Amino acid sequence: MRTALRMRLVAPSATLGMAAKAADLRRQGKAILDLSAGEPDFNTPDHIKAAAKKAIDDNFTRYTPVPGIHTAREAVTAYYKNTYGVPMPKESVILTSGGKHALYTLFMALLNPGDEVLVPAPYWVSDPDMVRLAGATPVPVPSTPENGFLVTVEDLDRAATPTTRALILNSPSNPTGAHYTAKALDAIMDWAVARDIVIVSDEIYDRLVYEPAKPASMAGCFALHPDHIVVVGGLSKSFAMTGWRVGYALGHPSLIRAMSTLQSQSTSNICSIAQKAAIAALTGPMDCVEEMRQAFKRRRDLALSIIKTWKKAICPTPDGAFYLFPCLSEYYTAAVPDSTALSEAFLGEAGVATVPGVAFGEDRCVRLSYATDDATLEKALTAMGDFLGKL
Ligand SMILES: Cc1ncc(COP(=O)(O)O)c(C=O)c1O
Repeated sequence: MRTALRMRLVAPSATLGMAAKAADLRRQGKAILDLSAGEPDFNTPDHIKAAAKKAIDDNFTRYTPVPGIHTAREAVTAYYKNTYGVPMPKESVILTSGGKHALYTLFMALLNPGDEVLVPAPYWVSDPDMVRLAGATPVPVPSTPENGFLVTVEDLDRAATPTTRALILNSPSNPTGAHYTAKALDAIMDWAVARDIVIVSDEIYDRLVYEPAKPASMAGCFALHPDHIVVVGGLSKSFAMTGWRVGYALGHPSLIRAMSTLQSQSTSNICSIAQKAAIAALTGPMDCVEEMRQAFKRRRDLALSIIKTWKKAICPTPDGAFYLFPCLSEYYTAAVPDSTALSEAFLGEAGVATVPGVAFGEDRCVRLSYATDDATLEKALTAMGDFLGKL
C-alpha cells in the first residue's frame, strides 16, 4: 500500500524497537537482561489503582470534556502549587494521552512550516520526528559528556537564527539524566524571551532528581513570561503509570485552547478512569513516589560503581531520571564501529538489551536504563564490562 509522503519524516521509535527485539529473543528461550526499558519496574501504587477501580464501579466510564474533567485539571495545578509554589488557573492545563501526545499536539498547535526548533543533543528520540511531522525543522545543539551533557546560553545562541521558534528542554533528560539547576533554567529563560523563542520544558522526570541536586521546574516563569513557556509532564515515570497514558501540558490558555481543538478532532479526551487515577496520584500521599526515587538513586550509584571499572568509558554522574549514557567510542573497532553495532553486540554476545546512542543523536554513547532490580543491573553491567574487555 502506498503511504503518505509524511511517513518519510518519521522512523519507528528506537527505544520501543529495542524492547521488541529483546522480547523476541526471550520468546525464543534466550535469557536477556533488559537495560533498554524507559519505564519504572515498579507497580502503580495501590491508592491510585483503588481510585481507578472505584471509577469503574461508579460507572465513571463515559466521554469527558476534551481537556479533562475540572477536578483532574485542578489536580495538575494543585501539584504545581504544592511542589513548586506556582499558582496556575485550570484553563492553563490540558490532559493528554501521555506526555508524548502532549508534545505531539503542542507542536501541531505551535509550529509552522519553516520554523526551526532547537533540540539540545543528546535528545529524546521522539522530539525531532514530532517536530518534522509538524512541518518544522529540528536543529540539534550538541553537548558533551565532559560538560555533563548540558548546553549553555552560548551554545543555544550559536544555533539560533531569526526563524527559531522554539527550544525543547528536557530536564532531567532522557537519555543522559542531565538536570539543569534553577539558576541555569532562569538564564536560558531570559535568553529565550530576549530572542522571542518559546521554551517547551519537558519535565516528565521532574520528581526523579537525586540530592544534592534539587528539583527545578520552569513553571515558575509563567507569571512573567506566559507567551514564552509551555511545560509538559505526565505520570508515567514518577508514579509508575506508563500504561495509563496520562500526560499534560501547562501553558498560555490560548495555546491550551488550540491544543484542545486538535485533541477534540483526534483522541477526544483521555480515558475517564485514568483521570480519576491521576487525581489520586497528584493529590494523594507521595511516600510511595519517594520510595521509588530512593531505589532509583541507589541503583544509579550501584551502576556507576561498575561502569567506573570500564577503563575507557566516560560516564558523567546524572542528577535525575533513570538512565546512564556512557560514552564508549574508545572501544569501537573495525567490527564494532558505532553505537548500533555495539548495542547489537551487547545483545548477541552479552545477552543485554541497551539502546544505541545514535537514536538520541550521539553515536559515541549507549543508553542504559537502571529501572530494573539490583541483581539484573549487576549481572548485566558485569557481562557488558566482560564483553568490552575483549574488544
Ligand atoms: C523525555 C520524555 N518525554 C516524554 C515522554 C513521554 O512519556 P509518556 O507518553 O509515557 O507520558 C518520555 C517517555 O519515554 C520521555 O522519556
